[in-house]
Amino acid sequence: MYAKLTRMLRRVLPPAGYRFVKALRHWQDMVACVLFISAGGKLSIRERIKLVKKLYVISINIDSSHTQKQMLEYIKAILSLPSGIEGVLVEAGCYKGSSTAKLSLAADMIGKDLVVFDSFQGLPEHNEPHDRNIYGVRTKLEKGGYRGTLEEVRENVRRFGKIDRCRFMEGWFDSTMPEFKKSVSAAFLDVDLASSTRTCLKYLYPLLETGGVLYSHDGDLPLVTEVYNDSVFWLKEVGCEKPLIKGLGKTKLIKVIKNA
Ligand SMILES: C[S@@+](CC[C@H](N)C(=O)[O-])C[C@H]1O[C@@H](n2cnc3c(N)ncnc32)[C@H](O)[C@@H]1O
Repeated sequence: MYAKLTRMLRRVLPPAGYRFVKALRHWQDMVACVLFISAGGKLSIRERIKLVKKLYVISINIDSSHTQKQMLEYIKAILSLPSGIEGVLVEAGCYKGSSTAKLSLAADMIGKDLVVFDSFQGLPEHNEPHDRNIYGVRTKLEKGGYRGTLEEVRENVRRFGKIDRCRFMEGWFDSTMPEFKKSVSAAFLDVDLASSTRTCLKYLYPLLETGGVLYSHDGDLPLVTEVYNDSVFWLKEVGCEKPLIKGLGKTKLIKVIKNA
């Protein structure tokens, strides 16, 4: 029903109109924004209001697949990283750069760089039998889906985020990630496929600093949660015991904290 309504709105509204309705449709987003603004923390209330306004401007201007609530939850984790923690921020899977623009603002606030991995050709070819997500909605993950070119993403971040904070790593994860050796303080994975998730965890998790966080936006996809749940994969491919994973099998946004 909800998916049908979304498809209908996308058909009848002009793209900017659709993004406007989409940005405002979730009451949970509004609540999350109010809670974020009213909470204390590193930022002043003026800075928090400014940030929320910018997040909405980005959502209205750039198509994306996340909600404001999800993005705010991750941004809060970035702003709460232990002081003095080493390492860049990483994003794997950026589509048109809406999440990238938002994360570049958070990166700038804590004085860190954001390294962005993507093919910039959309999803790779795969043979994963994705069917329904944990909410019962059918998932369609076609080759080339969620494609944003590097130029498009750069331009979007230049307009709405902090481009000077971003480093783009263009290519399939299994080509770009093995070469990447920087330490990481926080990572955001939004890659849709189990195969892509395996590659990200295998190469990025060992680089994550103690006290760092890794979030996945794919916790609604059963084939992806199988990867997170697979103790043998963690031991053999990642090289550690399966860590504690918050929200696994229950929520779209799942969180791994790296403890000593
Ligand atoms: C759902 S989209 C990301 C959405 C974005 N984070 C947002 O909120 O708008 C998934 C992205 O993952 C990228 N991706 C998935 N698997 C990949 C792989 N193996 N190598 C490179 N890019 C990949 C796709 O190109 C796509 O941009």
